[in-house]
Amino acid sequence: MNVTRRELIRTLSGLPVAAAAAAGTPSTPVSEEPAHTKVMESSRAGSPVIALPDKASFSFEGTHLNAAYTHPLGTHARAAFARYIEGHARDSGRAWPHDNPRDQAVGLFAELIGAQPADVAVVPSTLEGENLVAASLGLGPSAGVITDPFHYDASLLLYGELHKRGMPLAVVAPRGDRIDYADLEAAITPHTRLIAISLVASNTGYLHDLKRICEVAHARGALVYADVIQAVGAIPFDVKASGVDFCCAGTYKWLMGEFGTAFLYVRPDRLPQLKRIQVGWRQILNYQPHFAPLDSPDPRAGDYQLGTTTAQLFEVSTPNWSGLAVAVGALNYIRDIGVERIARYRAPLLRRLQDELPRHGFTALTPTDSHAAHLAYLRQGAGQRFQRALRDEKIFVSLYENRIRISVSIYNDMDDIEKLIRVLKT
Ligand SMILES: Cc1ncc(COP(=O)(O)O)c(C=O)c1O
Repeated sequence: MNVTRRELIRTLSGLPVAAAAAAGTPSTPVSEEPAHTKVMESSRAGSPVIALPDKASFSFEGTHLNAAYTHPLGTHARAAFARYIEGHARDSGRAWPHDNPRDQAVGLFAELIGAQPADVAVVPSTLEGENLVAASLGLGPSAGVITDPFHYDASLLLYGELHKRGMPLAVVAPRGDRIDYADLEAAITPHTRLIAISLVASNTGYLHDLKRICEVAHARGALVYADVIQAVGAIPFDVKASGVDFCCAGTYKWLMGEFGTAFLYVRPDRLPQLKRIQVGWRQILNYQPHFAPLDSPDPRAGDYQLGTTTAQLFEVSTPNWSGLAVAVGALNYIRDIGVERIARYRAPLLRRLQDELPRHGFTALTPTDSHAAHLAYLRQGAGQRFQRALRDEKIFVSLYENRIRISVSIYNDMDDIEKLIRVLKT
């Protein structure tokens, strides 16, 4: 994206942008377990014990510290995909609308976020989910949005475009490395319809207090959308505990799945406030055609009703069945490890980076109390300085002109971290 975040915020809101700075006192976000010891503990009774780090389930080359960009597929997901493809090739008579992996994938995702499966729809991507919510709420001149610069770039553009068409928009400036919720509350007006944020910021790893945002928003009659693609699968997250109204996540990051598949959650009591945006066969109930010679005659093309569940409002037609099959494999794997254990496992690896990198000219953008699975640092000229060495060492991170983002997952160990530190010390 060519527009810098700072320029974007100025353009969108005219609000001053507080400098993003390293801040906070050191704290241990979650209880830690030593990264180099094999942990033999299972998250749920009867499930297979998966030792961490689990390098055996992944077959990529090099050192992958970039899951906030894309998580590598593991053997569990690949096996699910292989079974799916084999089935597609062999079973030419399959009744796809009834015989598909959708419900299993949705069930596993719903369990992960503490939702009912009925409250989840399958959509093509995170941004499509957010666009659908925006359209469905009728955002416009009398239904505005509050967001912040930690939200995903393309989401800020979505609201920026709606703002050009007259929708009120406030982009709350951070104070240091975080949002002050008093600022957010002060930005709410009678025209605020939605507060839209990323639960974990892709750019800095800032973790919002979603419960607090929902309390502030709901007390003033506004609703809350959370982009959770950098959170679900990486940190424990429960829709009911947070009170969030809408959230969406694609599967290709911390859900360890494929592209083109995402899950959109809608708080069930909000459904009556949403209008249908698109129409397709997944929404139709009791269809009676009238066009063919043996159909009952009627001047209309057909009789039908449209369903009103979350899925029947937001799912349109044939989804990415293979992406859903992969999601089943990946979500079962995540369930067998347990998200709390995933977070505990990586904590000492992140802590080592947090201790070491500031000594070598890296300024932390990630608040030290964030539970996110990635860390971001400012370093003037980082891109030019480290690109070649990282490539030569086959170390994959997100590297920008003046920033670096490092993500840690369950296949990483302390050797990976030390290898990266050696390169970044030079
Ligand atoms: C916070 C956040 N939201 C959304 C996206 C894009 O997700 P999708 O491609 O599923 O729309 C990303 C990708 O990096 C992201 O980090």
